[in-house]
Formats: sequence, structure tokens, C-alpha cells
Amino acid sequence: MADDEFHYSSGFGNEFVTEAVAGALPAGRNSPQRAPLGLYAEQLSGTAFTQPRAVNRRTWVYRILPSAKHPSFRRIENKQLSGTPFDELEPDPNRLRWDPLPLPAENNPKDFIDGLFTLGGNGDSKTRDGMAIHLYAANQSMVDRYFVDSDGELLFVPEFGALILHTELGPLRVDPGEVAVVPRGIRFRVELPEADSGYAVARGYVCENFGAAFTLPERGPIGANGLANERDFLSPHAAFEERNHQVQVVNKFGGNLWAADYDHSPLDVVAWHGSYVPYKYDSANFMVIGTISFDHPDPSIFTVLTSPSDSQGLANVDFVVFAPRWLVGEDTFRPPWFHRNIMSEYMGLVAGQYDAKAEGFVPGGGSLHNTYASHGPDADTYARASAQELTPQKLDGTLAFMFESRWTILPTAQAMSAPFRQRDYDDVWSGLQRNFR
Ligand SMILES: [Fe+2]
Repeated sequence: MADDEFHYSSGFGNEFVTEAVAGALPAGRNSPQRAPLGLYAEQLSGTAFTQPRAVNRRTWVYRILPSAKHPSFRRIENKQLSGTPFDELEPDPNRLRWDPLPLPAENNPKDFIDGLFTLGGNGDSKTRDGMAIHLYAANQSMVDRYFVDSDGELLFVPEFGALILHTELGPLRVDPGEVAVVPRGIRFRVELPEADSGYAVARGYVCENFGAAFTLPERGPIGANGLANERDFLSPHAAFEERNHQVQVVNKFGGNLWAADYDHSPLDVVAWHGSYVPYKYDSANFMVIGTISFDHPDPSIFTVLTSPSDSQGLANVDFVVFAPRWLVGEDTFRPPWFHRNIMSEYMGLVAGQYDAKAEGFVPGGGSLHNTYASHGPDADTYARASAQELTPQKLDGTLAFMFESRWTILPTAQAMSAPFRQRDYDDVWSGLQRNFR
């Protein structure tokens, strides 16, 4: 299905109203004595009941069966997925970089759940703090299998191949260049639409956010418009599945996978209204702000979404995009400068080339620069950018992104021992010469 076959409502933090069958939503109250059409009414809370209105999120769903109807969950194998605490290894101060996660072979079917590979993370999902970084590479749709993350919300950043996220609140199609968020506790299955090759395959990145839900950053003196605009966030319309055969629901809870066999699809919501919703966003709509004189602002100017902490301005995790843009700074070293940062930075690349790295950082790959790791442009980039004529320049066809966290991001043992980790990453900077006269 192409994206124009899906239906969306636009806005961020809105109260949406949608029904797949006319008359399924009760009028005037949330929980009437008998809900319309023989449906069950159920509230899904994304925040504590008593949190302030500005952040309070909840959705009322009207479903064929209440979600309480299911047998016990049992532990299943985590495979390459892991959760907090990320304490398998001693924290390592080195700069780290990886090639892309290999795609599964055609004769090795992997759905989205089995295709997840945890790179690292921080915090504690049990106290709703911190984040994890997962990669995925999959070649099978989830057919009679569903996923729910009780630990965190999931931010999907596809790099290769589209995803159709069939969620309890309706379907979303997410193509590379777009991102999507499925809130904590919302069940979904991932369909991989067939590529032109006739073979479905998908790869990308997932940020699992254990902290406060992603929201839009404040704009301060930027004003009422710019960066990611509210109207460009799209949420699905209600849609439901009626399945009467056995399906598996996989629940990530406390860092581990649990599964239960349901006798019906958990995607049986016929109508809903509320503000706790999955959404997607096309990074092409990001209004990029940068210098029109000299120097460039800190990369926080590229923040799309932020998970705030209790300290103002200190993010549990930020999602930042380095989108196509013009570089016009006069007497300015235009690529990202050398720096050391108290925050920890994981960078990925969806398309093209990143302006601080001439080579080695490829789409699907990623780098991790933890607390105070010294980083910046490689030697080739430094030489080029120091000598170039400073005419207006368009950075085109590129999309890099960053998950930036206040806590050190601790890699998993499998990420450190992965054959696709670049052992020679430090060499990127070895060619930098003394120019002091
Ligand atoms: Fe950085």
C-alpha cells in the first residue's frame, strides 16, 4: 500500500476523534452503561491521572474485546534484544563506530521482533528513566504476531525499506526520511511492504525512550513557527482486525520478552478519541534554522523531539536531524566543530553523507561519542573546509540524525564484539597535522 492509501489527522498533542464504523463512539460520555455496537469501553493512560493538562495524555478506545481478556504471559527468548541495566561491560571512554547491521539472508526469515539488535542504552526502565538504542534488520512481516513495549515508547527511524505500523489506533506507513513514534503500551505489528524487487526487507534504528514522552522543544526567541511544526505530525484513523484464530502477543516488560497466545487480534479498536496516540513525521518538513552571518548555532537547533527530564533544558533524550540545508556562514569553519560534550551522542545516517565525515560513516551505520569523548571532523574534512571558498553551498541529499542523552550510553557486549564494529575508528583523526607557526 502506498502512503496515499492511508488516512491521517494532523497535529501534535491534539485530542483526536476517529471511528472505523459510524456510530461506534458514544456521545457525551466516555463510559456509558452500554457502549455503542456492543463494544467495550477502555481507557489507556499515557501519563498519571493527575499530571498537568499540558502533558496529560490518555485515549478512550471502543473495542471488540477488552484487552483484559488474555491468558498468562510466559518468558520467551530475548534473542539480540536487551534492556536495562546496561552493565555487562565496564564503561569504555573510546569513540565507537559501526558499519550497518547486516541484512538477513533470504533463507533466514526474521520479523521485526526477531530482527532487533540492542546496541546500548542507559537509565532504568523500571523507574522510567533513560533510553536504549536498537537496530533492526528484517525480511518478514509480523502476520499473527504483535508487539507491545511496556518499558518505553519507540521512535522508529527507517533507513532502508518502508514499515507499515498496524497499531491499536490504526495503521501508519513510514518510509525512510520519515520517523514514527508508538507510545508505551500500545500494541502493534510491523508489516514490511514489498519493495520493487518483490522481496521485502527493512533496516533502521529505534530509540526506546524510558523517560517522559517525546514532545516538541520550546522555541524561545525563534517564535511561534519553525523547526518541527505541529501540523506536520500525522496520527492514524481508527481501523480494526477481526481475527478468531490464535495469535501471539509479545510484551517487552522489565527488559525481557514475554508472550501470550490470544484467541483474537489485540488490534480490535473500532473507534477511539484521545491524545495518547502514535504519530509520524516527515523530516523533509523540518524548517531548518542556521546562521545567516557567521559561526553556527549548537546542534540543539536541529531538535525535532525531546524527552524532557525534571531539570529544565536537560533532556533524557533528544532526537535531532541534520537535514538538507544551505551553508552561508562568512569566515566560518562550516562543518561541525571539534568538541567535547557532557551529553552522550549516538549518530546514525539515513541517506547521503554527513558533513563532518568524508568517509567511513555510511547509511545504516552509526557512531557513539559518549560523555567527553573528543570528536569532530576527520582530517580530510578539516583540510577541505579550512581551504574552501566560502560561497553559499547547499548540503543536499543527506539525512543524519542523533539520539543525544544526558546519561552515558553503555554499549552491549554484542555491539562491542560485533564483526561490523570498526576497530580502527580512531584513525579518522590520526591524519590531523600541527599547523602552528
Ligand atoms: Fe558531537
